[in-house]
Amino acid sequence: MSHYKIAVFVGSLRKESINRRLAHALEKLAGDQASFDYIRIDDIPLYNQDHDSQFPAQGTRMKHQVAAADAVLFVTPEYNRSIPGVLKSAIDTGSRPHGDNAFQGKPAAVIGTSFGSAGTAMAQQHLRNVMVAVGLAAMPRPEAFVQFKEGMIEADGSVASEGTQKFLQGFMDAFFDWIRTQQPK
Ligand code: FNR
Repeated sequence: MSHYKIAVFVGSLRKESINRRLAHALEKLAGDQASFDYIRIDDIPLYNQDHDSQFPAQGTRMKHQVAAADAVLFVTPEYNRSIPGVLKSAIDTGSRPHGDNAFQGKPAAVIGTSFGSAGTAMAQQHLRNVMVAVGLAAMPRPEAFVQFKEGMIEADGSVASEGTQKFLQGFMDAFFDWIRTQQPK
């Protein structure tokens, strides 16, 4: 069985983030098949093209982590029907300077959760646009719009219901298949 190193971007900085819980649940379900490298984005300066020639160290750190990963996973909330600005800024940073885009060609997937019934669908659609723009190979399906319910996932990533567990396991299995198909032949 293959083991994949996955660079994980959680789009929320909130301590009690339900998206971070979701990421932990996916990490648990991945078991031995993957190690999750959680990418720190809270200290990366807001993207500024003036800094392309004197790149911020936090941006370089992130780019090295992405370069060392087999794949990228975004677990993101929806803010005002799009992705949080902090996540977009981090992605912009990772894609620069021109010609040194850390994301180019990496297999990637997106998932997210919110209390609303649309379960971050709009944010994910916006993120897919950005993923294509930076050359990530975005897994087309399954889509995973997770409506969060109180008690659904604990802080340590334990999932209460068998149905939710199966759904999330299916998502990870599809992601592993996708990573395999994207490996250079
Ligand atoms: C939200 N929230 C939200 N939810 C949603 O389903 N669609 C949306 O467009 C928005 N917009 C939005 C904007 C801003 C600025 C905030 C702070 C929140 C609610 C959001 O889903 C909720 O706060 C989640 O708990 C955020 O995810 P984390 O931080 O818990 O992972």
